Amino acid sequence: MKDHTVMSGMRPTGRLHMGNMLGALMNWVKLQEEYECYFSIADWHALTTGYESTEQINENIKQMTIDWISVGIDPEKCTIFRQSHVKQHAELHLLLSMLTPLSWLERCPTYKEQLKQLDGKDINTYGFLGYPVLMTSDILIYKADRVPVGEDQEPHLELAREIVRRFNYLYTPVFPEPEGIHTKVKVLPGVDGRKMSKSYGNLIEISATPETIRQKVGVMVTDPARVRKSDPGHPDVCNVYAFYKAFGEKQLEEVREACEKGLIGCVECKKNLAKLIIEKTKPIREKRKALENNPKLIDDVLEDGAMRATKIAEQTLEEVRSAMKI
Ligand code: TRP
Ligand code: SF4
Repeated sequence: MKDHTVMSGMRPTGRLHMGNMLGALMNWVKLQEEYECYFSIADWHALTTGYESTEQINENIKQMTIDWISVGIDPEKCTIFRQSHVKQHAELHLLLSMLTPLSWLERCPTYKEQLKQLDGKDINTYGFLGYPVLMTSDILIYKADRVPVGEDQEPHLELAREIVRRFNYLYTPVFPEPEGIHTKVKVLPGVDGRKMSKSYGNLIEISATPETIRQKVGVMVTDPARVRKSDPGHPDVCNVYAFYKAFGEKQLEEVREACEKGLIGCVECKKNLAKLIIEKTKPIREKRKALENNPKLIDDVLEDGAMRATKIAEQTLEEVRSAMKI
């Protein structure tokens, strides 16, 4: 038995970007070595905000699974599955919804914010309000006690702990209280200097081709104070330098010095960076290609993952039903 059980998930949004890779995914790759890990492609969660158009969902799931495996999430070391393949999540969600006060959900900051932000979409739904209950059931069904997520998910984890306490108090202690793992992720800016995000269109995908990488690095914003090569630069305000921090620890000092002394021009600096990123991500592209040529493998991984997950989920659910006398 391993010390901790780890559970996390992502909504299937298609191809992931370098920020996702250096943030969440590299952390998962480490966690799978030490702990029992469950990683879920949360397609039901995707429905909570995108129930109207689902044409893309299967393709998105496939692409995300390929990205996960290409960066080193290993289906031999952890359990990768599609949320909707494990129906037990839905039963637990239903049972937990019975004991979750509405007020807890309505005061959830992510709920209030998203309702405001996505005002073009109609997410005034029962399903969207219950988003954190669904997430709670994802976690609890494996009795996971560690949940690696971004800080933005912390209110959901707080809610999960409240639901655990209420359940354990009302019936029998069945669940541990899940704790977040918030690693300091290297924030990778988008090519325009804002946060790397799909909605800003400023991202570099994990699966980007060398040409795309060169092109995206080419348009990155640098130190605006630099006009001529001989102008001393300020790496700390430069986007290109932020990428060096993520991809080229070894080159950092050299680049800083050359930049501050005005010995290197931004064009050359970018060319070197593009080369570095292309080199570092080469194994990922190769792995992706192999997986793309073998779609059956992806289906098998998800099927096998679902089978393993279902076994544990069913065990937990039996305890839950017995605790609730249902
Ligand atoms: N809500 C999470 C997000 O958007 C995704 C998610 C779904 C999740 N189920 C989960 C994360 C269970 C951790 C545990 O990032
Ligand atoms: Fe940025 Fe490099 Fe230009 Fe310096 S030389 S401002 S680090 S791109």
